[in-house]
Amino acid sequence: MAQAVSGLVAVYPGTFDPVTNGHLDIVQRCAPLVDRLVVSVLANETKSPVFSTDERVGMLRGVLREFPNVEIDSFDGLLIDYARRKGARLILRGIRAISDYEYELQMALMNRRLAPEIETMFMMAGEAHSFISSRLVKEVIRLGGNISGLVPPSVEEILRRRILNPGG
Ligand code: PNS
Repeated sequence: MAQAVSGLVAVYPGTFDPVTNGHLDIVQRCAPLVDRLVVSVLANETKSPVFSTDERVGMLRGVLREFPNVEIDSFDGLLIDYARRKGARLILRGIRAISDYEYELQMALMNRRLAPEIETMFMMAGEAHSFISSRLVKEVIRLGGNISGLVPPSVEEILRRRILNPGG
């Protein structure tokens, strides 16, 4: 039988462009279950994020500062190499709907092939958050819609400034 892990470290990777209340919901569910949760921003500009890596890290730091066992970081290269460097046994991913499943399954199985000792753990976002995505939040704000309750207030303000007043 596998040994229970003490000092369990999980990595929660993502683009976080920007962090939404859906991401926060996943962090809140996972943080009490592990010793350390590393929320890590993919520093990959090929995805053409609206926010720089430093800005995305800064927003996460701002909204997650009350979680003592949560660390915010960034990474590039292969996720499993990064997870190994962090001593993580778990990769955490949120699943909203069945449409997320195929992409997540592919990534999880590829990561397992590359690093059999690291498990991917999926968590279901709460129902209230299951439709939120960074992409839609940006689209709604760009088109003048109301995004309150979908992202933390500090992030809403930064989004408003960046998207509605890009030069300012
Ligand atoms: O928030 P996202 O965009 O769905 O996150 C995707 C992420 C960062 C988890 C994924 O793109 C990733 O792990 N990138 C790192 C490169 C890598 O390891 N690729 C092989 C994964 S199968």
